[in-house]
Amino acid sequence: MKIKSINLLNYRNYSSFSTDFNPELNIFVGDNAQGKTNLLEAIYFMSTLRSFRTQNDRDLIKFDEEFFRIQCEIDTDVSTNKAQVVVLKNGKSIKINETMIRRSSDYIGTLNCVIFSPQDLNFFSDTPRTRRKFLDIEATKVSNKYLVALNHYFDVLKQRNALLKQPQIDEDVLSILTHQLIEDMWIIVDYRLKMVKSLNKKIKLLFKKLSQEDNSIDLQYQTEFTTDSEQEFKRLMHDRMKQNKMRDIYFKITHSGCHRDDLSAYMNTHELNQIASQGQKRLVLIALKLALVEFIYDKEQRNPILLLDDVFSELDQTHQQRFLENVPSDSQILLTTTSIDQLKELKRPMSVFEINKGQLITRRDLNG
Ligand SMILES: Nc1ncnc2c1ncn2[C@@H]1O[C@H](COP(=O)(O)OP(=O)(O)OP(=O)(O)O)[C@@H](O)[C@H]1O
Ligand SMILES: [Mg+2]
Repeated sequence: MKIKSINLLNYRNYSSFSTDFNPELNIFVGDNAQGKTNLLEAIYFMSTLRSFRTQNDRDLIKFDEEFFRIQCEIDTDVSTNKAQVVVLKNGKSIKINETMIRRSSDYIGTLNCVIFSPQDLNFFSDTPRTRRKFLDIEATKVSNKYLVALNHYFDVLKQRNALLKQPQIDEDVLSILTHQLIEDMWIIVDYRLKMVKSLNKKIKLLFKKLSQEDNSIDLQYQTEFTTDSEQEFKRLMHDRMKQNKMRDIYFKITHSGCHRDDLSAYMNTHELNQIASQGQKRLVLIALKLALVEFIYDKEQRNPILLLDDVFSELDQTHQQRFLENVPSDSQILLTTTSIDQLKELKRPMSVFEINKGQLITRRDLNG
C-alpha cells in the first residue's frame, strides 16, 4: 500500500497544501515548528481517524477556522482509492471514492500506517492504558471482529459501571451485562494473546538483527487467565466476576476484565525499563514497529506505510542502514528530520521536501 498524494485544507498550520509522494522514501526537512509532524499526523489521521498527539479533533483545525479537510489518493496493488475526511467542530464526514461512509469501522483499514514518534520512547514506562491502546489500535486495523467486540465491550462496561452506581441494583440486569462483558472479553483477550505471541517471535529476531547484540527481548501479555480454551476462559472469568461481585458493588466499579490488562517487555528476563539504555530502548521500539509491519503483512498481504517522526535521524548511520535493510523492500517510508546531512548518504530513491511555515518550499528527487 502506498500513499500517492495528499491535499490539506485548514489542517493545523497548513492553510492549503498539496503534494504527491515518492513510492519509496520521503524526507520532510525543516526547522522546528514548521509543520513536519503535522503532515505525518494528517496522514496518520487518514489511517486511524484520530491523531497520535491529541484526543480532541478540534485541535487539528487551523486556528480561527471552522473545519479541516484531508484528501488523499491511496494506491493498492489492484486500484487507486480516493479518501476524504472533513472534520467540523461538531462532527466529521468520511468519503471513499465519492461514497459517504457512515461508520468509522467501515473506513478503518483503507490506509494502513505504522507510526513511530518520540513519545513512543516512553512506551514501556507509560501507563498500561498506553500499551492497551497500542494493541487495540493495531488490532482494529486488521480485524473487524475485534473492532466490533471492543466497541461493544466498552459500551457494556459503561452500562455496568453506571448500574453499580445505582442505589438499588437490579441483579438480573447486572448478570446479563456481566455475561455480555465476558463474551466480548474472550474475543479481545484471545486476539491480543495471539497478536503478542506473533509480535514476540518477530521482535526477538528483529532486535538481534538491528542491534547485533545477544540480548533477548521478550513481550508478555498480562491478563487474568491465559488459555486457548474459550470454554475454560469463560468459566474462570464467570467465577472471578462472582467472587468480585460484592467488591464491585461496594466500590461501584468493575474490577476484572481486559480493560485492566497490560503488555510488558523484558530484556534477558529483567524488566526492559530497568536495565535497557536509551539507545537499546529506541531499538526495541523500532523492532516492535517493524514486527508490527510484518504482523500486518501476515494478515493483509500488504505492507503498511511507515511514518517516522524524528526517530530515524536519531540513529547513527550503521543503525539507519540496518533499519532500512529490515524494512520490507517495497514499503513506503515518510520521515521527518531537522537536518538532511546524514540522510543524503542513503542509497535509495527518495524525495526531499523542504517545509517552512506550513508550505512546501522545494522538492528534490534523488537516486531515482
Ligand atoms: N490548530 C492549529 N492551527 C494553526 N497552527 C497550529 C495548530 N496546531 C499547531 N499549530 C502550529 O504548528 C506548528 C508545529 O508544527 P509541527 O509540530 O508539525 O512542527 P515540526 O516541524 O514537526 O517541528 P519540530 O521539528 O519541532 O518537531 C507550530 O508552529 C504550531 O503553532
Ligand atoms: Mg515535529
